[in-house]
Amino acid sequence: MRFVKGRDSRLAARLAAAAFGLLLPLLALGAQATDPAPAESPRPPGAAIASAHAAATEAGAQILREGGNAFDAAVAVSAVLSVVEPISSGLGGGGLWLLHDAKSGRDVFIDGRETSPAAATPDRYLDRAGNLDPDRSENGPWSAGIPGLPALLVHVAETYGRLPLKQTLAPAIRIAREGFPVYARMARGYQSRRAVMERYPGTRALFAPNGKPIAEGDLFRQPDLAATLERLAAQGFDGFYRGRVARKLVAAVNAEGGQWSLDELAGYRVKEREPIRFRYHDWTIVTAPPVSSGGIALAQMLQILEPYGLEALPEAQRVHLVVESMRRAYRDRTFYLGDPDFVRVPQALLTSPAYAAGLRASINPDKATPSDLLSGQPTPLEDEETTHFSIIDAEGNRVGATQTVNLLYGSGLVAPGTGVLLNDEMDDFALKPGTPNAFGVMGYEANAPRPGKRMLSSMTPTFMESPDKVVVLGTPGGSRIITMVLLGILGYDAGLDAPQVAALPRYHHQWLPDVIDAEPGAISAQAAQALRAMGHTLDLPPDEAVGGRGSSHVWGNLQTVEWDRAHNRLLGGSDPRNDVGKAEVVVSP
Ligand code: GLY
Repeated sequence: MRFVKGRDSRLAARLAAAAFGLLLPLLALGAQATDPAPAESPRPPGAAIASAHAAATEAGAQILREGGNAFDAAVAVSAVLSVVEPISSGLGGGGLWLLHDAKSGRDVFIDGRETSPAAATPDRYLDRAGNLDPDRSENGPWSAGIPGLPALLVHVAETYGRLPLKQTLAPAIRIAREGFPVYARMARGYQSRRAVMERYPGTRALFAPNGKPIAEGDLFRQPDLAATLERLAAQGFDGFYRGRVARKLVAAVNAEGGQWSLDELAGYRVKEREPIRFRYHDWTIVTAPPVSSGGIALAQMLQILEPYGLEALPEAQRVHLVVESMRRAYRDRTFYLGDPDFVRVPQALLTSPAYAAGLRASINPDKATPSDLLSGQPTPLEDEETTHFSIIDAEGNRVGATQTVNLLYGSGLVAPGTGVLLNDEMDDFALKPGTPNAFGVMGYEANAPRPGKRMLSSMTPTFMESPDKVVVLGTPGGSRIITMVLLGILGYDAGLDAPQVAALPRYHHQWLPDVIDAEPGAISAQAAQALRAMGHTLDLPPDEAVGGRGSSHVWGNLQTVEWDRAHNRLLGGSDPRNDVGKAEVVVSP
């Protein structure tokens, strides 16, 4: 990857786009509004939204035009994503949102992560030989945590929004009832999860009506989900967590052999937490605290990297140092991070400049540090889903929201009569200590399941703020989320703009497996050779021309917006790897 400052940054983006065969679409995917007002402006010239589906972005823009703020728009965007991206997130899942309230200047992290049901003890996830059974941790009733996203929507609407839920949920209700066309990624994802999903009658009724599975171009209607959203709009928290919907959710899980109680649903609570905040060059970075592992890892990596002057270094040297910072942060993730309400996370130590200096001192500038010095088993990376959207409104409010049902289509289990597809987030716990999960990351006691505990996440909604710019960014991608956000931050720091950052080729290292995974165009052949000579193992695309969705060497769906204060300009960047996303600037909301 090359970061090029100033006038060369367009070239960098074209290079990035060319790597994906996306030279022209970049123009369509980026959104821009410029106001000739010079110098720093106290307020943006409009609003900007970037999300993984055009219908969600448009719903958010509509809510802004109806007088809503960024938080109202976020509720609308999130709910529409729950309808049009069942592959990625939904009412049956959870979310981690980062908010900035312009009036008070306060940043707050909203933790709507799922919680562990009391019955979900580790022994439930082992097969007869005592090995982790992925069919339990990734599929069906035992894989699902108690959902958090509906409570998060109600909390944000009631605490930070100015419009009623009836108004902000209206676009999602309409789309659920009227339907939308199935797109290629959704149909492909269904095929890959079909064997699991069609075990369950509620799922079959929705996704394979009359025995015919959904296909690209079909109109996909979800009347039960529309009714569930209406209950949420009318009754708030109780509309989902108590009464009819709650009874159906518990009945569905228990009918399939799981064990949920009505009390566990009624007892679910959203948590407000203090975000992690640190400096990187001219930027203040505000990001996700535990129960996400993302903010601590970002603070470690960026503080390790800050003194190096990355941009002036040759490519191989730069990638080597970034990878060594990734390796160290992911090692710590494995041992120390979990739900801060249950375990003492040494956050102050892990995010301190002194600790970062110690880690930096352990990096050999010319040689890879073998991860197996620190023990563990290599495992393959697997596919992942989740979704992210970013919003800045005309008042300067911001939302960075990442939400998920975990793997493609979550647990695969739709509770009959609700339209709610349950998550499979239990796989994000360390169900068997030291055994990697679907993302190849593992954990120990800090992330062991306990009744009511939240499973460790990698979701990393992030703000960047400098005297010139305000940025919101985030992405899905399982354990790769954190390194994508890291590269996005480095890209902005190097002078790239929102569409360029969304398109930037990516590479990743997560301590174990001890491999650098890279997208097409992320590492040149020359740098790859130099990295191998330093002792790194690389997993590169077999052919640099190969790309596009479906290649295991392309990942993420980064959605970012920026307010360039110096030029009073708004820009949105929607990841060109996803052909249904949209960035939109609303100039006069
Ligand atoms: N389920 C993915 C994550 O939260 O990290």
